[in-house]
Amino acid sequence: MNNYGIEGTERFESPSRGRGLRALRHFAVGELVFVCPAYSSVLTVTERGAHCEHCFTRKEDLSKCGKCKQAYYCNVDCQRGDWSMHKLECSAMCASGENWCPSETVRLVARMIMKQKTTTERTPSERLFLLREFESHLDKLDSEKDEMIQADILALHHFYSRHISDLPDNQSLSELFAQVNCNGFTIEDEELSHLGSAVFPDVALMNHSCSPNVIVTYKGTVAEVRAVTEINPGEEVFNSYIDLLYPTEDRRERLLDSYFFTCQCTECTTKSKDKAKMVTRKLSTPSKPEEIEQMIQYAKNVIEEFRRAKHYKTPSELLEMCELSMEKMATVFGDTNVYMLHMMYQAMGVCLYMQDWDGAMTYGEKIIQPYSVYYPAYSLNVASMYLKLGRLYLGLEKKTQGLKALQKALAIMEVAHGKDHQYVAEVKHEIEEQK
Ligand SMILES: C[S@@+](CC[C@H](N)C(=O)[O-])C[C@H]1O[C@@H](n2cnc3c(N)ncnc32)[C@H](O)[C@@H]1O
Ligand SMILES: [Zn+2]
Ligand SMILES: [Zn+2]
Ligand SMILES: [Zn+2]
Repeated sequence: MNNYGIEGTERFESPSRGRGLRALRHFAVGELVFVCPAYSSVLTVTERGAHCEHCFTRKEDLSKCGKCKQAYYCNVDCQRGDWSMHKLECSAMCASGENWCPSETVRLVARMIMKQKTTTERTPSERLFLLREFESHLDKLDSEKDEMIQADILALHHFYSRHISDLPDNQSLSELFAQVNCNGFTIEDEELSHLGSAVFPDVALMNHSCSPNVIVTYKGTVAEVRAVTEINPGEEVFNSYIDLLYPTEDRRERLLDSYFFTCQCTECTTKSKDKAKMVTRKLSTPSKPEEIEQMIQYAKNVIEEFRRAKHYKTPSELLEMCELSMEKMATVFGDTNVYMLHMMYQAMGVCLYMQDWDGAMTYGEKIIQPYSVYYPAYSLNVASMYLKLGRLYLGLEKKTQGLKALQKALAIMEVAHGKDHQYVAEVKHEIEEQK
């Protein structure tokens, strides 16, 4: 195993967390801990034409696949490099037209199966942790999760059986989907827009903490892991699996539901930020505990309802949903309560989509302060919010505010993405242009 090790780290048995990653030396804030190329990756359908299907590079003038006219590439090399995977979809997309609609997970799993068929040796993505070693928690799945996996398997057969001869049996496929559900990654851009899904086995070796000491960012389809706190020799390397905005109970619920464990990190045991995150409105007669509890339930329901509504409601209907729910929540919650912030973030997204720049800016301004308190010091959520806000300000010719926001984004990104990242260069360029 040592021959394959990642310099400066080692795989170990982490007490009560299964296998994990441990530092063998000191890492400073911003230092690269390791990189991991994707074992398999898939570009999300809505980003076709904006990013290369193979290497995820964002640029103009990509060339179209002449056959399906749906996949776009940097050049012939990328097109050739992707063909063994794209051929699974190219002719099927032509034949089925609008009826071609496998989920992103199904598309990713099809690629993983194809890669497993053609790879016998340990890949550069598996220096410490092999794909076939992934935890599946198959024995813990409830009927709802099991049904979702069975639906994915049906879709895999439907869309890919003609192109992958002898698909694995149902049991193996169930395990593979369950493994992807708890070890897979999504790739986002600097504003946290979704670009695609991928598997990075060595990155999946890291366990979760709500106060992580590393952040994962992406250079195309390569994952980069950088320290965001000092890490000393012997310390476990922790990544965060979830959005850290929410209070302990919500984070634990989410981790238990998706990853089958109860987090025991310092944030979860001290709950140090919960009180601020759940702040209530200052009233002459304060809300009763049962009123607060009811409003929390309302907030959780409305968050779920909104998530579903995004697929069928119009932008103005969505915006109305945000405003009405915030009005109702404001009778009990303070303006910086995380459930209020959640709906403001959604409203900002809708405004951006509608090109209502003033509306988006107003929401962004309300969000940014509490965000920088609730998230850890180096957070991609905070960086992306400063970035969106900075770009909005500059678009609205508010130069001073724009520069200030972009500088804040840059300070985080230089640590999280590294000083030589394309995103960092682009933000620097946007700042320079104003001078
Ligand atoms: C991506 S894997 C990480 C590697 C894993 N420990 C293993 O041995 O395969 C995610 C799984 O690791 C475990 N895990 C991750 N973080 C944990 C934590 N903070 N406490 C307990 N278990 C954790 C859970 O079983 C979770 O489903
Ligand atoms: Zn490319
Ligand atoms: Zn094609
Ligand atoms: Zn935790």
